[in-house]
Amino acid sequence: MKILIVGSGGREHTLAWKVSQSPLIDKIYAAPGNGGMADIAECVDIKDTDIKGLREFAQKEGIDLTVVGPEAPLMAGIADEFQRYGLRVFGPSAKAALLEGSKVFSKEFMKRNGIPTGDFKVFDSYEEAVRQVDTYGFPVVIKADGLAAGKGVIIAGDSEEAKDALREMMIERKFGSAGDRILVEEFLTGTEMTVLCFVDGETIVPMESARDYKRIFDDDKGPNTGGMGTFSPNDVYTPDIEEEFRTKVMLPVLEAVKNEGIEYRGVLYFGLMVTGDGIKVLEFNCRFGDPETQVILPQLESDLVEVMNSVVDKRLSKQHIRWSDKSCVCVVLASGGYPGSYQKGLLIEGLEQETGEEVFVFHAGTRKEQGRYYTNGGRVMGVTALGTDMQEAREKAYAAAGSIHFEGMQYRRDIAK
Ligand code: AMP
Ligand code: GLY
Repeated sequence: MKILIVGSGGREHTLAWKVSQSPLIDKIYAAPGNGGMADIAECVDIKDTDIKGLREFAQKEGIDLTVVGPEAPLMAGIADEFQRYGLRVFGPSAKAALLEGSKVFSKEFMKRNGIPTGDFKVFDSYEEAVRQVDTYGFPVVIKADGLAAGKGVIIAGDSEEAKDALREMMIERKFGSAGDRILVEEFLTGTEMTVLCFVDGETIVPMESARDYKRIFDDDKGPNTGGMGTFSPNDVYTPDIEEEFRTKVMLPVLEAVKNEGIEYRGVLYFGLMVTGDGIKVLEFNCRFGDPETQVILPQLESDLVEVMNSVVDKRLSKQHIRWSDKSCVCVVLASGGYPGSYQKGLLIEGLEQETGEEVFVFHAGTRKEQGRYYTNGGRVMGVTALGTDMQEAREKAYAAAGSIHFEGMQYRRDIAK
């Protein structure tokens, strides 16, 4: 089989790495890919949102399966386009991708289908939003409806902060049309966890649970990022919580997706809060998480290509999926200044060193030139390790992270602590 992986982050490198272990695969392409992917895939210079360009490439090369990493092409309808041309694609339709692309759609979907989530109100008028922003007391959560690169969620401590956030989103249009509608949401307290599931439209199968660290600094300080580290499995995902997740969240969501005629083949990502009042859904994503994928796929013992084939061909119910009982930790090495502005093009040193068994360096923002790797993004790489327990995985990941260097490199020291 020839496979095409769309995207250029750590998630996509991990997908390419896992897929490269499959005896079913003859050739891997990545569009546009990154420095690390270049070692196992042929990187082609097509943007991940150039849907027509990707479709024409897949037709010309006779690609047997296209796997879509990021949300933007899914929302732009890549799955619909590929299917129209008879091409096999792993990733949901544009309509399904609204579960991630519109936070208002997603909350209303949950409400009308009885999926547990925090209370909320939707506003398209700034004045009305200001009038009712104290409905749930403070702190309160304010969210832009559309995609805002993870920056469209504000937790406001008092009414002044809340009004500032509403003004930025709705009047100053900081996120453009993404802030034309906003959500005011009840603030939930508890422990966060992430569960990704394979979905073929009829069957839904959870993967190992994970925990993401979104803030830039230790002890969850500083601004939100795309994710500074992860570990899996998540210790809050006990057998009781797993049972509650299956019966109250996962299966009802599958039923709702079917009832609403949403065509879903790919990964459905559940961002969850375990509260004193049970599990509540914070958000859905319509794709693999980044950097959750970096800690989930190393634990997968089955052939990922077989699993993805079973999703695309709607026979997931017959597919047996095996996981190791190891633990996995990923520490993200980021550019100095990230998530604000940062420099690119810095030489990355220490990559040639032996990192030890079951240690993987998944590239995100890197570029390869004449055999050397240079920084090319905010999140540069995810240093990942498997261990017989979390402590061993953590020690191995940090030991390997410490042997890599580039100017201004920063990473959190408290992942999985
Ligand atoms: P989201 O993109 O909707 O998952 O929001 C990003 C992050 O904001 C989540 O991972 C939580 O840490 C936080 N968050 C979102 N919604 C809430 C809420 N209703 N209560 C408390 N924290 C929230
Ligand atoms: N790690 C969060 C996400 O992939 O959206």
